[in-house]
Amino acid sequence: MDLQIRGKKALMAGGSAGMGRATAERLAEAGAELYISARREERLMNAAREMSEKYGVKVTAVVADSSKEEGRRALFEACPDPDILAITIKPPAPNGDFLKLQPEDWRDSIETALIGPIEIMRHYIPGMKEKGWGRIVNIATFSAKNPMLWRLMSGPARSALINYTASVSREIAQYGVNINNILPGMFATEGADELVEVYADAFGLERDRDVAMNHFLENNKIPAGFVADAADMAPMAALLCSPLSRFIVGQNIVIDGGQHHSLF
Ligand SMILES: NC(=O)c1ccc[n+]([C@@H]2O[C@H](COP(=O)([O-])OP(=O)(O)OC[C@H]3O[C@@H](n4cnc5c(N)ncnc54)[C@H](OP(=O)(O)O)[C@@H]3O)[C@@H](O)[C@H]2O)c1
Repeated sequence: MDLQIRGKKALMAGGSAGMGRATAERLAEAGAELYISARREERLMNAAREMSEKYGVKVTAVVADSSKEEGRRALFEACPDPDILAITIKPPAPNGDFLKLQPEDWRDSIETALIGPIEIMRHYIPGMKEKGWGRIVNIATFSAKNPMLWRLMSGPARSALINYTASVSREIAQYGVNINNILPGMFATEGADELVEVYADAFGLERDRDVAMNHFLENNKIPAGFVADAADMAPMAALLCSPLSRFIVGQNIVIDGGQHHSLF
C-alpha cells in the first residue's frame, strides 16, 4: 500500500528507540523526509544514520527533551513546519504503593506525558491548519482507558491527553488536520527493558528480565499469547500519518493483543 507521504516532512518526537523508532522506520520507508528527536544523543545519531542509509531519505536528528521548554524550543527550531507529527516518550516507571506517590511524582508525570505532547501539538497545529493538511499521532498507553494500580504515573496523564485530543481533533479536522492516538499494551522495547528493575522492585521480585516478564504474563492475560515487538504497532501509526486516514478523527486505537477487554 502506498502511504502517499513521499516527500512530506515527518517529525517523530521520541524516534531513536522502541515504538517511536519503529514508526519512524515506516515513515522513512514510505519516502518521508524525517526528523527524529530524543534525549540521549548517541543512540539518536545512530538511529538517524541507520535509517538514512537504509531508506535513502534525509533524516535530521535533534537532541531534545520534549518534557522541557528548552527541549521543545530546540525541536521547533530544527523542524519548523512538519506535515506529520508523531509523539512518544519512554514508558513511565511502574509505581509501588500508591500512598507513597508525592506531588513531585505527579508533576513529573504530567510534565512528561501530558504537557509535553500538548505543547508540541499546540505549536504545530496553526501551521498545519494554514497548509490545509496535517497528521498528528500520539503513541500513549492502553492504561489511559484501562486503569491499572501500578501504572498511575502513566495512565492518568494519558487519560487527560486523550480527553484533550478528543476535543481538539474535532475542532481542527475541518482544516484537514487529524489527530489520533495509539494506545499500546505490552511491547518488548528498549524502554520496557530499562524498567525491569523498577518493575521487580514494585512487586518485590528478583531483578531479572525473565522473572519480571513471567510475573507480568501471569498477571495480565494477553489473548494473542505473546508480548509484541515495536514493529507490530508501526503499520497502524504510519497509516494514521497518511492521507489515507482522512476520515479517521479523534480515535484511540488500542493495540494490545486483546488484553483490554471491552467493546471500544
Ligand atoms: N513498551 C511497553 O510495553 C508499553 C506499554 C504501554 C505503553 N507504552 C507507551 O508507548 C510509548 C513508547 O514506549 P516504548 O516502550 O517504545 O519506549 P522506548 O523504547 O523507551 O522509546 C522511547 C523513545 O522516546 C525517546 N524519549 C523518551 N522520553 C523522551 C523525552 N522526554 N523527550 C524526547 N524523547 C524521549 C527515547 O529516547 P531517549 O530515552 O534517549 O529520550 C526513545 O527514542 C510510551 O508512551 C509508553 O508509555 C509502552
